[in-house]
Amino acid sequence: MGMRKIPPSLRAGLIRHATRDVVPIAEEVEKVGKNVLYLNIGDPMVFDYRTPEHLWRAIDENRKKAEGYTDSLGYIGARQAVANYAKRMGAPGVTAEDAITFVGGSEAIITAMQALLNRGENMLIPSPGYSIFSGELSFLECPLNEYWLDEENSWQPDVEQIEEQVNKKTRAILVINPNNPTGSVSSKTTLKKIIDVAGAHEIPIFADETYDQLLFDGEKFTSMASIAGDVPVVSFGSISKNYLAPGFRGGWLYRHDPQGALNDYFETIKKISRLRLSTVAPVQFAMEAALKGPQDHLKELIPKLQKRRDLTFKRLNEIEGLSCVKPKGAFYAYPRINFPLPNDSDREFIISLVRETGVLCVYGEGFGQKKGTHHFRIVFLPPEEVLSEAFDKIEGFVGKNYLKKGQ
Ligand SMILES: Cc1ncc(COP(=O)(O)O)c(C=O)c1O
Repeated sequence: MGMRKIPPSLRAGLIRHATRDVVPIAEEVEKVGKNVLYLNIGDPMVFDYRTPEHLWRAIDENRKKAEGYTDSLGYIGARQAVANYAKRMGAPGVTAEDAITFVGGSEAIITAMQALLNRGENMLIPSPGYSIFSGELSFLECPLNEYWLDEENSWQPDVEQIEEQVNKKTRAILVINPNNPTGSVSSKTTLKKIIDVAGAHEIPIFADETYDQLLFDGEKFTSMASIAGDVPVVSFGSISKNYLAPGFRGGWLYRHDPQGALNDYFETIKKISRLRLSTVAPVQFAMEAALKGPQDHLKELIPKLQKRRDLTFKRLNEIEGLSCVKPKGAFYAYPRINFPLPNDSDREFIISLVRETGVLCVYGEGFGQKKGTHHFRIVFLPPEEVLSEAFDKIEGFVGKNYLKKGQ
């Protein structure tokens, strides 16, 4: 009997997640025997990094406790560690009750959005910005309401535009700081202005602070909760990047909510969290150890990343036809393509690049960019020799296919 095809939900068909969508193309390229340089995904563990040993030890030492279900909202020790971390970052009022742990920051973000947004409502999101937000908004049937980060001004958020674009259906303003894909770090002055807009419209701030420990050139990070005053903030974090443990899947959110404006909303986040029954038990102990324990790994990690950032910034700006703003945090660069592209498509450019050279990056369309501009994201986690090889290949590819045409 021919079974009929089972259609997936229409809303799920709307989800796009560029960092993963390019992988099948790279796999095709690998099948024909070409070596692929995976510069598409922010996973340090693919390269020469290791998770700090004490995170593993914490899991090992808590084996018995890690075998059963956890509290639906997470193990209280981990929640307390998140609250202590929030205090260290300048938000003294946050308690363990204000923190919930999740399967990575991703689940925290998705849950917080599900609890907030009705169909047709919107959230102001940065463009360029990390694609989980636009992907989940599509799934929730919410239109995108994007504000630009200004490339001419080190990718700082355009606050005037935020102000102009808040409307009756705007439920939150999202800030991603440090930003993925630009590696930019927002100034305290700019962040304060964004808080003022949120305050004037009585809407909360969503603060994705996933990369808050990964800063270069002595750059200072300002947590949104530390300067928000009475404006409520939901902050997202995880051990994936700061603690080199993306496979552990440990993330959290906490609220800064001095007036209790988020009380009903936060109960709803808890209700959804209870639906999942339990979060992952072993990682609770690793999160607790990461946030409470020594931070020594950063002493090695930051200089190592900074060297790779320096090389990336130099090489990208030396390639004719490309230009790049210096990343100040995280491990991404977002170079601009300054030559015309066939079909005006940076997606096609990135597909041709991987087919011809094996270098896999992510196209700018996946993160957002001003109309008429084109970019791609490159991950500068790999060792210098891998990065150099990738830049040689990109340089050759651009020179051969895009610059010499018509000569
Ligand atoms: C800005 C940002 N937020 C959140 C995440 C989610 O990470 P995870 O689910 O591993 O915590 C990522 C991952 O790349 C990210 O770049």
